[in-house]
Amino acid sequence: MNERTLWNDGPRVGAIGLGCMGMTWAYGTDPDSDDPAAVIAGALGLGVTLIDTSDVYGPFTNEELVGRALAGRRDEVTLATKGGLVANLLPDGTPDPTRLPYPDGSPGHLRDAIDASLRRLGVEHIDLYYLHRPDPATPVEDSIGVLADAVRAGKIGAIGVSEFSVEQLDRAQAVHPISAVQSELSLWTRDHLTTTLPWCVAHGAGFVPFSPLGRGFLTGAFREAAFAPDDFRARNPRFRPENLAANLAIVDAVEAVAAKYDATAAQAALAWVLAQGEQVVPIPGTRRLSRLAENAGAAALQLRPEDLASLDALPAPAGARY
Ligand SMILES: NC(=O)c1ccc[n+]([C@@H]2O[C@H](COP(=O)([O-])OP(=O)(O)OC[C@H]3O[C@@H](n4cnc5c(N)ncnc54)[C@H](OP(=O)(O)O)[C@@H]3O)[C@@H](O)[C@H]2O)c1
Repeated sequence: MNERTLWNDGPRVGAIGLGCMGMTWAYGTDPDSDDPAAVIAGALGLGVTLIDTSDVYGPFTNEELVGRALAGRRDEVTLATKGGLVANLLPDGTPDPTRLPYPDGSPGHLRDAIDASLRRLGVEHIDLYYLHRPDPATPVEDSIGVLADAVRAGKIGAIGVSEFSVEQLDRAQAVHPISAVQSELSLWTRDHLTTTLPWCVAHGAGFVPFSPLGRGFLTGAFREAAFAPDDFRARNPRFRPENLAANLAIVDAVEAVAAKYDATAAQAALAWVLAQGEQVVPIPGTRRLSRLAENAGAAALQLRPEDLASLDALPAPAGARY
């Protein structure tokens, strides 16, 4: 797979990364899933080397499975995790699928979270550690200050942030260089193209699009609103039956472009994301080896300008992001 440099003087990584979230969080269970360890090993075999997890996925179990899967192969990947987002739990201690996690960027929480992530991943060093969300109750400077301490202590190699505005990025950058921004970017979520992506270009930071397949929608695999209660999409506005039906026009257009290249809709959607900049490294999530290989194949797909333009011109989707 061709590689990209994630940030100025940063690591070289496969142009397509792997998001591990769905292996223990957000999308329920799927009988067609492959063993997560096999998917992660398969990723390495394909040159997919940016591996993305978070303490909140599970919560906690995702980091453990990523750590187990990478045992003995730690040095082959750029390992990224996140802290500062906390799951709501039900009285029995299991996650509450009906409530979104809440931010906690307080210094005490982040200090403990970094040490706990190192333990669960079974590593001495995390290559890229993101603040998962800005915390309205904690000044950005205080949260980033703790991450800067962790860089100096050798616990983390670089600082990333997720879902920050340009104003929050400027404040964070004044404390410590921000190496990567992870925010939602796909054919149906394009706000960052005119805001934080230009900020990354100007500051030599990487941009890591999450949910680059529109949580699976853009692949064409989810044409009906039939989600299990523990699947986040059952409550997501864009997947409500009336909005999903309206949004199918977007999938139809992606499939039409893909067909011109004998590619799949997933590959065309990812190729469009890759075309947004050289420092852009999307992290599509999958639990299936077949889809992993399909998504990795997008790194070799270059869409022609007229096809990029026709995708640029797609209408905004019906329904809010959350
Ligand atoms: N920073 C943040 O706040 C944040 C938020 C969300 C996600 N993320 C990160 O971003 C990663 C990716 O985002 P995401 O998982 O939300 O969304 P995504 O990558 O846009 O889509 C994942 C969904 O698409 C399906 N899928 C993947 N490849 C496919 C293919 N080729 N054909 C058909 N279906 C396919 C997956 O199903 P299967 O798994 O069943 O294959 C899953 O349901 C996550 O894993 C996580 O690491 C970060």
